[in-house]
Amino acid sequence: NASLGKNAEETGHYLGASVRWDPLTENEKYESLLVEEFSSVTVENEMKMDAAHPAPEEYNFQKADEIVQAAEQNNMKVRGHPLVWGEALPEWVYETVVDEQSARKVLKDHVQTMAGHYRERVNEWDVVNEAWNDDGSYRETIWLEHIGPEYIPLAFEWAREAAPEAKLYYNDYGNEMTNEKTEAMFAALKRWKDEGVPIDGIGMQTHIDAADPRFSKEKMQKNLRRWGAEGFETAVTELDVKLQNLDASREERLEKQADIYADVTSACMEEPSCKGLTVWGVGDTESWVTEQEAASGEPLLFDSSWKAKPAYERIKRTFIFN
Ligand code: G3I
Repeated sequence: NASLGKNAEETGHYLGASVRWDPLTENEKYESLLVEEFSSVTVENEMKMDAAHPAPEEYNFQKADEIVQAAEQNNMKVRGHPLVWGEALPEWVYETVVDEQSARKVLKDHVQTMAGHYRERVNEWDVVNEAWNDDGSYRETIWLEHIGPEYIPLAFEWAREAAPEAKLYYNDYGNEMTNEKTEAMFAALKRWKDEGVPIDGIGMQTHIDAADPRFSKEKMQKNLRRWGAEGFETAVTELDVKLQNLDASREERLEKQADIYADVTSACMEEPSCKGLTVWGVGDTESWVTEQEAASGEPLLFDSSWKAKPAYERIKRTFIFN
């Protein structure tokens, strides 16, 4: 009865969790579940620009370094997240970035310092995160404002120079299935890739609301296949399934959650482009859904007492029997 991570590795996939520094250093149960049950780590917040780059000439790698070290000591893969995003920016960026020249200088320095510091330690980077709106237009960020959409391919070029061995991903939410947003990113990322921009993979965050009828395994699989046909690898990068909007008993909700987790897992396993899955947190207590939306969201695999939920067994069976 091996752990989830070992079951995943036996199928040639990884199963990861996003990790935060506070519970990793404060809570032994958190750390032991992480290293026993998962085979990959994504640094949830500590590599974001506001955390890692607090002043123009100052970087703070300490917390992220400690997370990476814990992963290395346990032979886990490391996903870095994210080099470029329009959120989680430190205040100084809004003072320093005022035109195209300053935007390019700040962004290049940030991307190359981060990617360079973790060269050969971060296996995979979310290079650009959430660059499109749901209607397919570019999301308005300080980088788009001053550089234009070119900031996206530039970031990949800069990251490749600083960390030539790392897999470079574009990461977003709402791109698990085909829609206006997916179409827009597909067209642009395919074009850039064809032009030689080093984009290796597409991350589907896969934050699912269990009450949203739009999710379907078949549609997700079709989308994963389409990216694969263009030479991209894919991954499920921030999986969670929130329950607060589902009108049902708690037991039924947990079953529905388990169904969705199993569907996403088998969609990934059945498509050769899909290399693995990462859940966005270890236990419900440390989830962004609990903190920012509702305690009844209970979106993860372990409950607030670190007990495995039905979704845990279902993912395990999916890895073993699929
Ligand atoms: O660490 C401090 C803590 O010391 C302080 O007491 C507390 C009080 O506000 O705040 C804590 O920091 C918060 C941190 O989460 C940890 O809980 C930040 O304010 C809060 O902004 C931060 O939110 C994170 C959010 O991204 C914004 O960076 C979430 O944890 C994180 O799960 C979420 O992750 C994003 C992905 O990066 C991109 N995709 C969507 C996903 C969910 O929103």
